[in-house]
Amino acid sequence: MDASEALELADSLALAFRDNPLNRAVIRGSAARRVRSNRYGMRATLAAAGGRATVLVPAIQAGAGLGGLIALAPGGWPLPPPPVFAQLEYWFGQGFGTLRRWGKAYHALAELHPTEPHWYLQLLGVAPEARGRGIGAGLLEAWLEDVDREGASAYLETDRRENLGFYNRAGFEVVGAEEILGTPIWRMGRPPH
Ligand SMILES: CC(C)(COP(=O)(O)OP(=O)(O)OC[C@H]1O[C@@H](n2cnc3c(N)ncnc32)[C@H](O)[C@@H]1OP(=O)(O)O)[C@@H](O)C(=O)NCCC(=O)NCCS
Repeated sequence: MDASEALELADSLALAFRDNPLNRAVIRGSAARRVRSNRYGMRATLAAAGGRATVLVPAIQAGAGLGGLIALAPGGWPLPPPPVFAQLEYWFGQGFGTLRRWGKAYHALAELHPTEPHWYLQLLGVAPEARGRGIGAGLLEAWLEDVDREGASAYLETDRRENLGFYNRAGFEVVGAEEILGTPIWRMGRPPH
């Protein structure tokens, strides 16, 4: 993925997560502010992921503009801090309150992260106007083919109840439910297939 595709993917993921409950609880403010703030977070995540992550985008024209999937192979979590420039952009772009709340959510979930080797679904998002067309399920299936080829387990967190059935159909089961910043979060695991 070249730099402009990475920016396009960051923008589409920023939009995809705009209305998620945890996003609202952490960022607060208007929808436009959440997208702006998310953009810094997504860019920093992609910069931190560097060559370590599996990044999948829809195999159709302008795919990176519709969303994508970022997954970390066993041992790849947690990501290292992003390069300094991306880190500065992230700090100044987010504001102190948002940074503090993201930190709180991250640490609460990090403590519950499985210790045995597993693939981690860091992010999966599809732009709102492109949903319900099978793009998300297609990305998930393509990634899980790799996971299954390795006979590995997989893990994710989600803050949308509607996503439970979506992930359940792909073989994930709820392994825990938490409340972070007043938002329900489900942790889901998938044993080796
Ligand atoms: C979860 C998500 C990635 C699914 O992507 P998607 O491309 O809409 O997924 P699909 O079209 O493959 O399937 C979505 C399911 O919702 C149904 N659906 C229909 N219209 C929909 C719509 N407008 N929006 C969302 N889902 C819709 C689909 O029919 C499908 O159900 P089915 O498998 O029973 O047919 C997407 O909703 C999203 O980006 N959500 C916000 C970010 C998020 O929560 N990501 C997951 C974090 S772990």
